Order: sequence, then C-alpha cells, then structure tokens
Amino acid sequence: MIQLVLAIETSCDDTSVAIVRHDGQVLSCISANQDLAHAPFGGIVPEIACRNHTFHLLPLVQQALQKASLTMKDLQGIVVTNRPGLIGSLIVGVITAKTLAQSLQIPILGVNHLEGHLLAPFLQDAQYAPPADFQYPYLGLAVSGGHTSLYHIHKFGQYEVLGRSVDDAAGEAFDKFAKMLGLGFPGGVQVDQLSTQGNPGAFSFPRSMIQEENYLMSFSGLKSSAQRLLQSMSAEEIQAQKMDLSASFQEAIVDVLIHKLDRAVQKTGLRRAIVTGGVSANSRLRQKAQQWAAQNKVQLVVPPLRYCTDNAAMIGYAGICRMNSLHQVDSMSLAPSPRSLPGDFQERGLI
Ligand code: KG4
Ligand code: ZN
Repeated sequence: MIQLVLAIETSCDDTSVAIVRHDGQVLSCISANQDLAHAPFGGIVPEIACRNHTFHLLPLVQQALQKASLTMKDLQGIVVTNRPGLIGSLIVGVITAKTLAQSLQIPILGVNHLEGHLLAPFLQDAQYAPPADFQYPYLGLAVSGGHTSLYHIHKFGQYEVLGRSVDDAAGEAFDKFAKMLGLGFPGGVQVDQLSTQGNPGAFSFPRSMIQEENYLMSFSGLKSSAQRLLQSMSAEEIQAQKMDLSASFQEAIVDVLIHKLDRAVQKTGLRRAIVTGGVSANSRLRQKAQQWAAQNKVQLVVPPLRYCTDNAAMIGYAGICRMNSLHQVDSMSLAPSPRSLPGDFQERGLI
C-alpha cells in the first residue's frame, strides 16, 4: 500500500502542492495565489496563469517537503491534476509531475480535478477533522468560478452528475456583478461583505430554472438583469444602494443553489451532503445551507476553505485512493486534457 504521495494542482490559476497520506491526513499543502497578476485584466488570462505556474511550482514542492519534514526520497507516488482545466496550466503540472516521477522512479497518476473537489470532506489535518460518521453515498454541490454542478457520489470512483449550470458558473456571476459595481477581481468576496449590510429583498432578481423539475441551473439571465438595472440607475444611486443590490443579487444565487440541493435530497432520499468550491466561502450560502440542513435533518459538511478552493490536498487524496484501492497508475505517456474524459462521470438523467 502506498502511504504517502506528493500532489500537484495547476488546473487554473492557483499553484498548489501537497503531501497527503492514504487516510486523508494532509501533512502539508502550500498554494500560491495569482489574483494580483490577473486583477488588472478583470479575469484569468491563461498565458499569465501558466507562466506563473512555472515560477511557483518547484519552490512550492520544496516548501511542501520541508513543512512535512520529508525529503524526495520519502515519496512513494506523484499525483497530478491532468483534467479538466486550462491546457497551458495543466501542461506545467503534468510535465513537472512526470519529471519528478521519472527521476525518483515512483508511480504517477493523473486525476480529474472535480473528483478532488468531491472528496474534500475526507481531508483532515492538525486543525480539522471531518465528522467521523460521514460516509458514501452523499450529494455534492461544487460551486466555484469555473464550475457549478450537483453530483450524486455513489461510492469512491462512482460519481453521477445530476445537473449543472447551463451557462455561467455561480462564482463567475458573482465576479461579473462585482465588476459591474467596480469592485475589482475576483469580486465574490466583496459582494459577500457588502451584502452583510444590505437587504436581500430590496431588489427582485430572477431565479432562472428554479422551478424546473431537474437539477439544471442558469445564472446568465441574472447577470443581464443586474446589468439592465444598473444601466437604469445613476452612479450616485448605485453607490448609495450597492449594499442592497449586492444582498439581493447574492440571495438569488443562494436561493437557486439551495433549492436544487433540496430537490436532490427529496428525490434521492440521501441525507448527507457537501458544499465545496470557492463560492462555499460565501457567508450567506453557508448560513442558509446550515439552516436548510438542520431543518431537513441532512448531515452537511462544508470543508474548511483551504480544502474548498482549488488545492492539491484533495487531488492527492483522490489519487492515493485510486492507487491503493483501484490499483491505477499512469505511464509516462500521461497527457493533460482540457475536458473530463468519458467514464469520469455518469450523466444519466441530464437534459
Ligand atoms: O474554487 P475557486 O478558488 O477557483 C475556481 O474558480 O476554480 O473559486 C473562486 C471563485 C471566484 O469566482 C470567487 O469570486 C468566488 O469563488 N468566491 C466567492 C466568495 N469567495 C470566493 N463568491 C461569493 N462569496 C464569497 N465569499
Ligand atoms: Zn476547482
């Protein structure tokens, strides 16, 4: 059995390296954030992301080893996100992982980034441990700047996509709204902060597809509706009402997410769920999800933010489980893919 792997995550703009044990214990997880590099452009610039990965990655490998008081010789495997993501960013991670595995003569495995997000509730460290009785099967709501999907996690390795956003991801909607308000990038957290002082019922924003008898979501109509509203207001009005605007916009997103999660609980009968991804940092989403879980007797796990945003620990755990329980390893022909591969997820029931 493989006891310890080094994991690399470079699928988007965060560079992350972790050392993870077979039981989910994270010995170290160190990430470099690139927000400042992308902020002047108001969004992630793929070329800048991959160039920064090349600068950050090897120093992070050294730091992760040091923090765990280990050397390269202690590593028994290398796990890397090889799909889905920005191709230039993935290439940096995969080539570095292959070079390390080749030179150390240890196995390598490429894993799906989204599988990592779904397994985040099993990660633990010196400060955090998940509820001991949390187990498969469960529902997973993964909400970030790049994805907004609802999954039925049947067991390790078997993931069914129940539904997803048909257009913008929820985080993307937060960021675009923040940009309209002139709050900078990424703006989700600023919208969250302003909302704490605003009235969520002040403006009526659409909750597209909320009543549809499926798990599909849509946030682009919400974005256009906000744009039209802001265009009809003067700069002074927007400034004076930005708290109410933020709180109302945020409420529309949170309502849709909780509604679809609730529908999944009612239809599947599952009473365990996780909320993960960068948007799970949203204080209103956390608050409403906890209230909903308590009312519906659902065991809800929202992992600490360090394991919800993009991180290598979740990738390492997914990989070491695959190596140990499914005996999977890749060859040196492992390649990055911008998309998930056939078989990664079941899509039964999706329209
Ligand atoms: O998972 P993540 O770090 O990166 C990926 O997109 O994969 O998620 C980042 C997203 C951004 O869209 C950011 O605005 C959003 O998460 N976000 C938030 C909050 N914190 C981060 N959105 C709403 N409220 C927050 N507190
Ligand atoms: Zn992600």
